[in-house]
Amino acid sequence: MKNFDYRDNELCCEGVRIEEIAKKVGTPLYLYSQKALVDNYKAFDKAFKEIDHLICYSCKVNSNLSICKVLKEEGAGADVVSGGELYKALKVGVDPKKIVFSGVGKTREEIKYALKNNILMLNVESILELELTDEIAGRLKKKAPVALRINPDIDPNTHPHISTGLAKSKFGIEISRAKEGYKKAKELENIEVLGIHMHIGSQITELEPFVNSLGKIVELIKELEKERIRLKYLDIGGGLGISYKKGEKAPTPKEFAERLLPLIKELKCKIILEPGRAIVGDAGILVTKVLYVKKTEEKSFVIVDAAMNDLIRPSLYNAYHEIIPIKKLRTLPRGPRVPSGREANSPSGISSPLGTRGELSLGDLESPRDERRTTVDVVGPVCESGDYFAKDRELAEVKSGDLLAILDAGAYGFSMSSNYNARPKVAEILVEKDKFCIIRKRENYEDLIRGEQEE
Ligand code: LLP
Repeated sequence: MKNFDYRDNELCCEGVRIEEIAKKVGTPLYLYSQKALVDNYKAFDKAFKEIDHLICYSCKVNSNLSICKVLKEEGAGADVVSGGELYKALKVGVDPKKIVFSGVGKTREEIKYALKNNILMLNVESILELELTDEIAGRLKKKAPVALRINPDIDPNTHPHISTGLAKSKFGIEISRAKEGYKKAKELENIEVLGIHMHIGSQITELEPFVNSLGKIVELIKELEKERIRLKYLDIGGGLGISYKKGEKAPTPKEFAERLLPLIKELKCKIILEPGRAIVGDAGILVTKVLYVKKTEEKSFVIVDAAMNDLIRPSLYNAYHEIIPIKKLRTLPRGPRVPSGREANSPSGISSPLGTRGELSLGDLESPRDERRTTVDVVGPVCESGDYFAKDRELAEVKSGDLLAILDAGAYGFSMSSNYNARPKVAEILVEKDKFCIIRKRENYEDLIRGEQEE
């Protein structure tokens, strides 16, 4: 984890003690390091510096206004998938000419909203959507700038829920029908064909799937050129994974770029990238407090105040997130980690991490290995057995009131949270050097009923 480290046995984010923040703001809370965000963004930008490119941060990953703003100030554009995300991107001042809009089910209103705001392009996912976009653009007396999202039919070897580039998936236009799509787009009066888009999935930790799909797309671009369809933009989507778990490796943006650049640098297209997780994933943690340690004959449960409604990834994908104490109990000489061997092996990196790219090694992050380590389930208060953060996990023994950090929670954490069980959404904090700022205040009970009526 970048910019999270122990000082005097206390976990800090940049220059701030996390316990201090928790005391002031309460728990649970999401905490982000601004430096980590910026550094991750810069790493991407630098990796592609030799070609004309635009990084459109994928807002679905974490669309907090402050997060989007930090990235916008670094020069990022936005990849949006709903009217709401477009609204948020525009709100923080992202240049509309740096916004791309994907999604298989764009509504008439959303298409209109995007066209009225003159975004860079709509990534159109079907011929039907193309026709609707043409009709709406005609009514607005505009030309709709579009890219076609092409489904290259490649297996990204990631969790099935987040594979998007297989023939059986709902996303994009099948590659076999791509030419037909482009010809159609050319014919439509109110459509301006600007680009081509692909996005094959998320948390991809191998480079081959990217290389293979891009190979197919580049081939297609060349074939289209022969038919006098010249594209200005090649949007290669997001999907680069991060390392959530010790021993799990994910390519760095530099390695990613090194493999892809040879394929694309001769093209006359500007390259658009839509990273999300790789920018914000390891820049955030979820801080939670131990409520009870409950021992049954079968198991020990560490019951914490965060739950599946705050971070759903473990419940939804059996995702692995490292969990560490905010305060180490005592310093012991560090030894190699003894794997518990009991941790569920989740599919391809939807399990996780620490750091191939992190500054902090697991050795640094681990609590001291001593007789007080126990094997527990870390669970939340929600009324579902699927409400867990870790199963059969070896952790330093904790007691009620202790604080824990659930790592690598910056991506698809808060953005997938809900009010299930009528639980107010948690606070979000952004740390910059030795200061912290509440970038989303904790919801209260009033917030839970806003908009509802008793009648
Ligand atoms: N572009 C498009 C069109 C996407 O659909 C996505 C993610 C991205 C970019 C960003 O992908 P990234 O760089 O973050 O991998 N909730 C799941 C992940 C869902 C991914 C959805 N699409 C999770 O928690 O793992």
